[in-house]
Amino acid sequence: MRRRWTVEKGQPLTEMDKKILAAQKAGHTVPSRNLIRTPEEIEGIRRSGAVNTALLDMVGREIKEGLSTGALDDMVYQFTMDHKGIPADLGYEGFPKSCCISIDNVVCHGIPDHNVFFKAGQIVNVDVTTILDGYYADASRMFVIGETTEEKRRLVDVTLECLHVGMAAAKPYSYVGDIGFAIQCHAQKNGYSVVRELCGHGVGLKFHEAPEIPHYGKPGTGMLLAPGMVFTIEPMINMGSREVHFSREDGWTVTTRDGMPSAQWEHTFVMTENGLEILTQ
Ligand code: MF3
Ligand code: CO
Ligand code: CO
Repeated sequence: MRRRWTVEKGQPLTEMDKKILAAQKAGHTVPSRNLIRTPEEIEGIRRSGAVNTALLDMVGREIKEGLSTGALDDMVYQFTMDHKGIPADLGYEGFPKSCCISIDNVVCHGIPDHNVFFKAGQIVNVDVTTILDGYYADASRMFVIGETTEEKRRLVDVTLECLHVGMAAAKPYSYVGDIGFAIQCHAQKNGYSVVRELCGHGVGLKFHEAPEIPHYGKPGTGMLLAPGMVFTIEPMINMGSREVHFSREDGWTVTTRDGMPSAQWEHTFVMTENGLEILTQ
């Protein structure tokens, strides 16, 4: 179904209405009104984001060689509960744990396990989503266990740069494709590839909402980004080829086909009249 921007008869058009209607008339995909969050909703997502950020800070303090990924997940569950939140991952479409822990060649959705232990040299993504008073905030960071190689360190750093160039491309009234284009250019310039099967997404009232935010694409394509929209950017960048494998065994774990490392960083943002504001920092 094609989304349309509708205005009530007799209501004066706001500056925002005019810009969105002009884009729609020019043939662009535009958001429907239900994707525009109210100031109260944004405040709720910001509060949820504050807990989610404190949670990632806790993960950063606790993660270390010899700890099991399952034990870290237990801490994520306890911390979230202690802050009156709910881990959105737990039970989401049957996901069995409170966070995703994705090591080295695991692209995303790694399942924490009490029999798997962090080892020196690993690069690890921990992805957490908090529900607080019904509002969702979603973010992930990379952590390095002990010392790693120069090659893996560079992948982690360039992937963070990819998130930053994606953020910079997301201007008010720009398009979803502007984000993906900027990220794809930066990754490829550095000799890396972009995973296509998994995307950023609208978030806030639910875990995954419209629009999808691919981390590759063409400028000026996809949905218009209007003030009040809340969404994630979460590039998954591979050192080798972009091909991924979906585990048939556990139904979740996504790995690189070539076994080479992958990295990811994620934030939740609100679009404002002046650009993106991070709700998870
Ligand atoms: N947090 C992930 C994302 O960024 C989704 C994880 S879903 C789960 O969209 F079920 F694996 F937890
Ligand atoms: Co996400
Ligand atoms: Co996430």
